[in-house]
Amino acid sequence: MTIAQHSYPRIVGHRGAAALAPENTLASIRAAAANGVTWIEVDSKLAGDDIPVLFHDETLDRTTNTTGRVANRSAAELAHFDAGSWFGPAGNPAFAGEPVPTLAQALTEVRKLGLGLDLEIKPDKDRTVETATHSLEVLSEAGFTSADPLLVTSFQPEALRIFHTYAPEFARGLLIWKWPDGWLETARALGCVAVISDQQSLVTESDVRQITDAGFLAMTYTVNDRDRAEQLLGWGVTSVVTDDPTVMLGL
Ligand code: G3P
Ligand code: CA
Repeated sequence: MTIAQHSYPRIVGHRGAAALAPENTLASIRAAAANGVTWIEVDSKLAGDDIPVLFHDETLDRTTNTTGRVANRSAAELAHFDAGSWFGPAGNPAFAGEPVPTLAQALTEVRKLGLGLDLEIKPDKDRTVETATHSLEVLSEAGFTSADPLLVTSFQPEALRIFHTYAPEFARGLLIWKWPDGWLETARALGCVAVISDQQSLVTESDVRQITDAGFLAMTYTVNDRDRAEQLLGWGVTSVVTDDPTVMLGL
């Protein structure tokens, strides 16, 4: 099966719209859509019962009302934690009680809102294959096909290898930070359509060209300054991933 070719947007909402609502929640996905974003990025991580949920960190400490490892809680338990109160003014949190959603719930929301999805596979250490495999199962159960606007991304080549092997029709993007050794060969071997670099590593236009001249789309994270986004797009970057789409309106 050939890899899906979609037209990718100039702006992708990071973790939904992480500056506008608590990251990786359904509220954050809705906030992105409400502010003109057509694609969002979220992080898929395994709960303790191997159900993929939207979560960035390995622990609950930073973005919920409890502590400990995500991997020590079931998805049902995670749904009862408050992943919203930490965000916004103390004493009057606008997103109090916002739960940790499952990936399945997020896919339903993405579909409902007509969004494109940059799905980052975000495994805990030593859980790469399992996280990719279960995320793929959820995508399949939700009926995602090559016709859907979907880009599967990861810093972990092994996660992308699972998709390359078992669902080659889904477009893949290799996430990199500071030009790791062998990034180009890895992106090629995994049949990626995009290489998604940290924006700090794109110092000049030739840095972008390293990616585009090799035949990949260049995407970059996390850009919250409008002038910097304009510069990167002018250099040939296809998409910038931003916490705050309100800053990027009209780009
Ligand atoms: O889209 C790329 C970006 O999400 C990667 O960094 O740490 O926010 O997952 P991080
Ligand atoms: Ca991410």
